[in-house]
Amino acid sequence: MSVDNTAKHPIPPGFEDALLKPADYTRMYDESIRDPDAFWAREGRRIDWIHPYSVVKNTDFTFGKVSIKWFEDGILNVSVNCIDRHLPTKAEQTAIIFEPDDPKATARHITYAELSEKVNRFANVLLSQGVMRGDRVVIYMPMIPEAAYAMLACARIGAVHSVVFAGFSPDALANRINDCGAKLVITADTAPRGGRRTPLKSNTDAALLHCSDRVRCLVVKHTGDQTTWIEGRDVDVLKLMDEVSPDCPPRPMNAEDPLFILYTSGSTGRPKGVVHTTGGYLVYAAMTHKYVFDYKDGDIFWCTADVGWVTGHSYIVYGPLANGATTLMFEGVPTWPDAGRFWEVCDKHRVTQFYTAPTAIRSLMGQGPEWVDRHDLSSLRVLGTVGEPINPEAWVWYDKHVGKGRCPIVDTFWQTETGGHMITSIPGAIETKPGSATLPFFGVKPEVLDPASGQIIEGNGVEGVLAIADSWPGQMRTLWGDHQRFMEAYFQQYPGYYFTGDGCRRDEDGYYWITGRVDDVINVSGHRMGTAEVESALVAHEKVAEAAVVGFPHQIKGQGIYAYVTLMNGVEPSDDLKRELETWVRTEIGPIAKPDLIQWAPGLPKTRSGKIMRRILRKIAEDDFGSLGDTSTLADPGVVDELIENRMNRA
Ligand code: WTA
Repeated sequence: MSVDNTAKHPIPPGFEDALLKPADYTRMYDESIRDPDAFWAREGRRIDWIHPYSVVKNTDFTFGKVSIKWFEDGILNVSVNCIDRHLPTKAEQTAIIFEPDDPKATARHITYAELSEKVNRFANVLLSQGVMRGDRVVIYMPMIPEAAYAMLACARIGAVHSVVFAGFSPDALANRINDCGAKLVITADTAPRGGRRTPLKSNTDAALLHCSDRVRCLVVKHTGDQTTWIEGRDVDVLKLMDEVSPDCPPRPMNAEDPLFILYTSGSTGRPKGVVHTTGGYLVYAAMTHKYVFDYKDGDIFWCTADVGWVTGHSYIVYGPLANGATTLMFEGVPTWPDAGRFWEVCDKHRVTQFYTAPTAIRSLMGQGPEWVDRHDLSSLRVLGTVGEPINPEAWVWYDKHVGKGRCPIVDTFWQTETGGHMITSIPGAIETKPGSATLPFFGVKPEVLDPASGQIIEGNGVEGVLAIADSWPGQMRTLWGDHQRFMEAYFQQYPGYYFTGDGCRRDEDGYYWITGRVDDVINVSGHRMGTAEVESALVAHEKVAEAAVVGFPHQIKGQGIYAYVTLMNGVEPSDDLKRELETWVRTEIGPIAKPDLIQWAPGLPKTRSGKIMRRILRKIAEDDFGSLGDTSTLADPGVVDELIENRMNRA
């Protein structure tokens, strides 16, 4: 199927009274770029401050002295903004709808009053365990309300949380606990997902073997499954919550105090601890949530991400709750018990905004529209996507079968590092094109750069790499414990800019099209994976001498993981060994890192100085080796023929 994606889709009828109209977008965008101080001074007031700020923007992108501060003398508390300030008017409104994995189990509706009590009690539990302002707390939890309570409880007392996706292995969890020096890890007994159970507590036990024995473990008994219990180290949170006071005074925090650390994959080395702070992050999360989804009181907002990713932080917890919204938390998966689950949940809870990833749309598309048609989706108003470029075919399917042509689709481009949306359409204000993230959000100044020279490419109808010329409040501030690496990763290659790592095209209408990562990061089902991480897991196996990992186009996942593996001398390749390596990577990192294809490589293409030529490996993995480009610097050109001959992906 080929889709005309050059023409603009008009704003559907019914959006005449949207929060922002086309003229509002233009006017506000212009002001945000012309006079960011005035713009953000005003927008910063959308949240409550204990002491207001007098300074708005104080940022410097100069390599060597990068410094990013917003609202720097303001004092606030995030949990007060997400809870307390709504109590006078919304105490009995639902804050969180919890839809369990098992469709037959009862959904829970947690009001703002209940949320307040739970978070206050949870915060007192943390205090009782000696957690203090600035201490790090790792959260390794299923998609249950207690995960949100834990995050907000940290925010209430000024502790810094670091949520680790429940799909990560014990080793990955241990690395993160150690890297941020967490005092405590919060987990649950087991996590039901798609009818199966992940043993979170026993994973945590295994992780803690590699951590300081001072690290405490708080356990939410969610399923009641049997787990081991270490007296003196393990704490039953729910039991303790009943015993402590329901009142915990919020800690006044500085706008630039860290709110959370979130580990993400980079092009080199170990995962990076992205640091977001309190004031700017919350202003940006709240504002983008409101405008990009046209959120209005009474709406039911559902973001299908996991709280282990940044999307869950900004658009399940902080953005929606700061706006006093009703946010849905779903414990399950899109395809269990059947491919209609998403739509059943939309119907059941009368969801108005639905936000998911292209990979989910593609996999459901493959099951046929009848799964959608069985459910009443008339409550939906706005659809969103995030995580990877959406192919026009999936966009058109989403629009037709889910949105019935009535719901604007917001294709939101952003990153863990950016805290919130960067380039996105806005319902009622920006016309869409299938596959384009459209236009920049307020305060965001995108530039298309020539990848080689770093020069700005002006005008429309151009392509290059995407950089951002000035700071916005939701921007990350540093990498935990490594400001130098922060500067090198984002500000060195193109001096004066924040470099996204993405390629980008600006079309004749000035619309932006993200073309994918230009570094060694791959995007598997919307999950970011560093090829270096998978490689180092592979070479840690005793039978592996060398490994090179690249992405390749995958129908459902967007990109798949393709691993070239050179075995130790004398080790025989076999299918059993392939399975052994797959299992190995799953345990080293987690199921999301399992290679889709493994090719035995007697040798890897290297330059004479020993550098692996990934460009060539990418081409072979893409089954597109007709134009390998310049191979004259190869030490042994014969290696390439061998790899082509035995390639695993044959289109
Ligand atoms: C990609 C997820 C195209 C991009 C919020 C980016 C996208 C990386 C889009 C960040 C989109 C995210 N269109 N590509 N709408 N959204 N990406 O940190 O390559 O998990 O750099 O943040 O995902 O992934 P991350």
